[in-house]
Amino acid sequence: MIIRVFDNQTELTVAAAEKFVTLARKAIEAHGRFTVALAGGSTPEPLYALLATPAYHQAIDWHQAYIFFGDEHTVAPDQPDSNFRMAHETLLAHVPEAHVYRIMGEIDPAVAADAYAGQLRTVFGDELPRFDLMLQGMGDDGHTASLFPYTTALEEADRWVVTNNVPKFNTTRITMTYPVLNNARAVLFLVSGSNKADALKQTLEGPKQFQAFPAQAVQPSDGELLWYVDAEAASKITRN
Ligand code: 6PG
Repeated sequence: MIIRVFDNQTELTVAAAEKFVTLARKAIEAHGRFTVALAGGSTPEPLYALLATPAYHQAIDWHQAYIFFGDEHTVAPDQPDSNFRMAHETLLAHVPEAHVYRIMGEIDPAVAADAYAGQLRTVFGDELPRFDLMLQGMGDDGHTASLFPYTTALEEADRWVVTNNVPKFNTTRITMTYPVLNNARAVLFLVSGSNKADALKQTLEGPKQFQAFPAQAVQPSDGELLWYVDAEAASKITRN
């Protein structure tokens, strides 16, 4: 695991964009395509916007990019809470040549989860998906994707995409599961802000309790694990 601490979110964003480009180019060179799962939330927004600017945009052959989402809210794609909407407005609308697969947050969640697993099969076949890059955020409660503390999706060992009841928000989410996350070639967490400091410390330095801090269980079995965090989020971490 590599933890990089940046002075501020701007520096974190630039480093994440550079990593994104490096992994995309490497993947396309190695196997002719770049598969990536995007995160929702506010932290990656500036990353997506930066990737849409000419310098970064032109560094990637977007025709070879296959873009998925790690999770989605059960809303229509034009709603404020839609992860697709955010990524579309900041990045995807500006790279129309990429292959984009969105989770249908507007239909029955169980149907949408199964349909998304089907979409994964069209790209990865029947083998467990192996993403070149999974971008992840982390909430101040330690959740990642829509894997929230003490929820049923944490126990899923077979299915690639499931619905998850989230009592905290009185809602259902649709999320990729640990088997997919942990099969990635690279997982990159982006964490920013002082409200994340406690959860980050527990996740990285606390006792193993993935039910309480679900991001702890994201440990790719044969891949890179990167945490890009800003100084505020890292303020309670003690180790170098
Ligand atoms: C979502 C996310 C979620 C997010 C965290 C962190 O759908 O909301 O995918 O897991 O990454 O909640 O969100 P922030 O970056 O806004 O803190």
